[in-house]
Amino acid sequence: MTSKLLNVALHVDENMAFHVSRDENIPKAGDEELLIETHFSGANPADIKHATHLGIYPTRLGYDFSGKVLKAPPGSAFKVGQTVAGYTPTGVGRPAGYGTHQSYLVCPENMVYLVPENLPSDHAACLTVVAMTTADALYNLFKFPLPGDSAQNTPASKTAGPLLIWGASTSVGICAVQFAKASGVFPILVSASPERHALLSELGATHCFDYKSPSVIEDIKAVLKEYHFDGVSYAFDAVGSFSGLGSAQMMASCAYKDAILVSVVVQKDPRFVMPLATTNEEVTLKIANLPHPITIPARKEDHQRAWSVLQWAVKHYRSRFRLVSVEVFQGRAEDALEELKILADTGRGFGKLALVHPLLPLFV
Ligand SMILES: NC(=O)c1ccc[n+]([C@@H]2O[C@H](COP(=O)([O-])OP(=O)(O)OC[C@H]3O[C@@H](n4cnc5c(N)ncnc54)[C@H](OP(=O)(O)O)[C@@H]3O)[C@@H](O)[C@H]2O)c1
Repeated sequence: MTSKLLNVALHVDENMAFHVSRDENIPKAGDEELLIETHFSGANPADIKHATHLGIYPTRLGYDFSGKVLKAPPGSAFKVGQTVAGYTPTGVGRPAGYGTHQSYLVCPENMVYLVPENLPSDHAACLTVVAMTTADALYNLFKFPLPGDSAQNTPASKTAGPLLIWGASTSVGICAVQFAKASGVFPILVSASPERHALLSELGATHCFDYKSPSVIEDIKAVLKEYHFDGVSYAFDAVGSFSGLGSAQMMASCAYKDAILVSVVVQKDPRFVMPLATTNEEVTLKIANLPHPITIPARKEDHQRAWSVLQWAVKHYRSRFRLVSVEVFQGRAEDALEELKILADTGRGFGKLALVHPLLPLFV
């Protein structure tokens, strides 16, 4: 690479301040890494929250991406010029090159896949984090059967259940409904705003409830009674909201005592387990109010299982799996950073956001 290329990046510094940087620092790929020209980067609440809540700074922001391979190591499975997508590692001390909201990034090649024609690049850039997190919840924590290649896993096969997904119209929830259906889980109960109920039913939910309704818990229990259940066996909080009673506690009140309770964010209640998007390597975090950093060990087999489910979603994209809404942002880097801040608290509402790279200058 020549040093004349400009790298426009969204950055968090050592004082936890968020900036745009424009310089000629093109990241250098390590031995088993690819150098990638970023075409789209997918936005996630983690892009901001990992700095503010988990101590991951200074670094460049972003985990999800799609782009073109510029450089591959000798013997790599990838070739220069190929269109790829994937996600990058997390944790305290994360190198700046792993940030995906920048014009050029580096990524370990075992966190990258080839983008097939059925998967648009902007959708590919939004897929990996939410699909891997959901797959960890459903296939490693709940241990549901993997989705098959044929559409034989219909609700009639009833492989596991009942399942409750709280906040099913988050991007994680949208993945969860489709994976659960493809695995033959039945019944699939979900909570979401009423305007999402038709969509969620089409994707595989068997019963939809309004999480803002004062009778939501009774309504869920009444439907469970119709199936002769007193609670759900599997409960997945896909939103991690702490407003009011909190989404995790609302959900837990609909579950059996011995149910498996999963929440996408850390819960004080020890009955809950949390899925992780990145289980391939150990992850060190500095959680606010804890005196020392914590290290979460790798779960390599679990990672392989989740990765196989991601590849199922890629292969069947548009036929049996999809992200319903992907909005594309093309504009100034400063405005992109503001979008990420709004997104951090699920404040953008429904759907994914993909940033087009390179991000534009302040004055255009
Ligand atoms: N553990 C991990 O590795 C990991 C990985 C990825 C994400 N996460 C976490 O997972 C959560 C979801 O992320 P995401 O990117 O999927 O979110 P998202 O797509 O930005 O979610 C937006 C949706 O949140 C829903 N929502 C907001 N408040 C709600 C509430 N109180 N109850 C139910 N639904 C509510 C809204 O649904 P309606 O339109 O129906 O109102 C809205 O459409 C975030 O907390 C994120 O930090 C964790």
